Amino acid sequence: MNAKPNNLDALLDEKRQFGASAEFRKKAVVRDRGIYDKAKDDRLNFWESWAETLKWNEKWHTVLEWTPPYAKWFLGGRINVSENCLDRHLDEGRCDKTALIWEGENGESRHYSYQDLLEEVSRLANSLKSLGVKKGDRVAIYLPMIPEAAIAMLACARIGAVHSVVFGGFSPQSLADRINDLRATCLITADGGYRRGGVVPLKINADKALESCVTIEKVVVVARAGQPTKEFSAEMQNGRDHWYHELIRGAESNCSPEVMDSEDLLFVLYTSGTTGKPKGIVHTTGGYLTQVVATTKCVFDLQEDDVYWCTADVGWITGHSYIVYGPLANGATVLMYEGAPDWPDKGRFWEICQKYNVSIFYTAPTAIRAFMKWGKEWVQKYDLSSLRLLGTVGEPINPEAWVWYHEVIGEERCPIVDTWWQTETGAIMISTLPAVSQTRPGSAGEAFPGICTTLLDEDGESVKAGFLAITEPWPSMLRTIYGDDERYEDTYWSKWNGIYFPGDGAKIDEDGFLSILGRVDDVLNTAGHRIGTMEVESALVDHPSVAEAAVVGKFHEVKGEAIAAFVILKEKWDASDELVMDIRNHVAEKIGAIARPDSIVITADLPKTRSGKIMRRLLKDVAEGKALGDTTTLADPSVVQGLKKQYLSEQQ
Ligand code: WT7
Repeated sequence: MNAKPNNLDALLDEKRQFGASAEFRKKAVVRDRGIYDKAKDDRLNFWESWAETLKWNEKWHTVLEWTPPYAKWFLGGRINVSENCLDRHLDEGRCDKTALIWEGENGESRHYSYQDLLEEVSRLANSLKSLGVKKGDRVAIYLPMIPEAAIAMLACARIGAVHSVVFGGFSPQSLADRINDLRATCLITADGGYRRGGVVPLKINADKALESCVTIEKVVVVARAGQPTKEFSAEMQNGRDHWYHELIRGAESNCSPEVMDSEDLLFVLYTSGTTGKPKGIVHTTGGYLTQVVATTKCVFDLQEDDVYWCTADVGWITGHSYIVYGPLANGATVLMYEGAPDWPDKGRFWEICQKYNVSIFYTAPTAIRAFMKWGKEWVQKYDLSSLRLLGTVGEPINPEAWVWYHEVIGEERCPIVDTWWQTETGAIMISTLPAVSQTRPGSAGEAFPGICTTLLDEDGESVKAGFLAITEPWPSMLRTIYGDDERYEDTYWSKWNGIYFPGDGAKIDEDGFLSILGRVDDVLNTAGHRIGTMEVESALVDHPSVAEAAVVGKFHEVKGEAIAAFVILKEKWDASDELVMDIRNHVAEKIGAIARPDSIVITADLPKTRSGKIMRRLLKDVAEGKALGDTTTLADPSVVQGLKKQYLSEQQ
């Protein structure tokens, strides 16, 4: 199992428990375990009662139709997501309540009330319609962390277009692959986005991508990098490209929401798997919104006066469910920050928390480990007394980082929720509820009410440590992989009959705390981002010098896992530092900077089984400098011994 060994050791000794203060418990959204009993008694009725908190244009007639592995939730129900995130709050007296606070990297800020946000979304929705975007059309969104990203998503939802957000750090090639898989007709992008003082030239990247996309008819461009200056505006193509600000200037601020079927597509979001080709994860409307609303409210203990900040990028599922849909559907005040945590200095996040009185803060373990490394002096320069709840997501958190988060950021006052979920699950699946459960560092706790998880071995037998499994369908589950039902069935449902396989290993301790140990497949989790080893390998062999490549994750103090590559060169190529640099950059250009290998070892051979399969497990041992595991199935055990020797000498 590909569990992180150091974390596992730390977890084995972990016996500490923490609980919320009496004051926190007194005011909490969920105050006792009755919610678990209710969900256990009647799971479908539990979810139905959450669906009832939303505004439906027509009520469902059937809660769930389950034809494994295909689920439909709230059948017959008709609903619009943007209406639930915006209009509904005006009726509930939140007209002037701040919906969105945005902080730019350069310190500028914008505030949108629910009324403002509704008007802005409606203007864009009308503009998209005027460009010919219709219900069911796919719209790609390639934007930096600016309010327009959330506005674009909500505008699509309003008119029934299916959005697909592509992280702004992805390469032109990755953007093109996604657009082509979706046959998207419209792209919303920006001239550029700020990152650590520099500008990411998004429009230039988009133009490069569009050279190989035939389906895009219209491009909407937000003028973020300013001006529009010559440098970043690239060329505006006549008839195809439109400035966002010019479009919405003339648009009506009223746009009646398209009434959608509960099972209509809301969005497709791509994520990595075990093959080179990313999967378009399909999420639909009613069930998705129901589970994100319930989990946001209960897990984050969301109250009317909270200022809620999730530091993810909208290009990932966390940004979809817990920056945009979950918090806005709950009528929350959401903070969104454009830039990096260490720009202009390492106190930036805490300065923002102080400036806006952030009360709920949700981030990733990789960020927490970076804060730890930078030192608590950066934190203690600021007043963090507004914080009352902390969250973590994306990868296993080591107890040491958990305790640091608790003591330094939470000042021992704030409960921590460690939330396990995935792009595929759409919403949180495993987490403690802050006022009712004890928490243990490194453990996500237990399944959310209405979610059924267990640990199984390969044969489907129940175990205390093994594969995480989800035994019943849940409202926000993926419905399929876009255009590829077969891959959907194979990837998630073929291990056991009718049971979902998420690809993670997990264990449960004697006190019932569930800990996620990490991926058990060929998927890396580097700095909280999911990258397939095969994806990196195919980018590597795309370099003219590379004959063969193997990629593994190796333990990294801050990133969790770093990307370690082993490469065999083609004849006539000689290894050099320049070549290694060039190959690394090639991967970044093909996929995006997040996939750039941290290390590349040029080797003459790779350890293979007699049937020719690369044994990545052994490469991992080499990369982590550990004793080699079992080598008896290798065709030639001397290969890996040689590789180890080479690796050790190169490290010196
Ligand atoms: C994978 C999903 C869900 C949003 C961010 C990542 C890992 C996620 C935790 C956690 C341990 C976690 C799993 C999972 N993961 N949350 N709290 N503890 N591991 O979404 O890119 O779809 O990745 O992230 O390995 O399968 P994603």
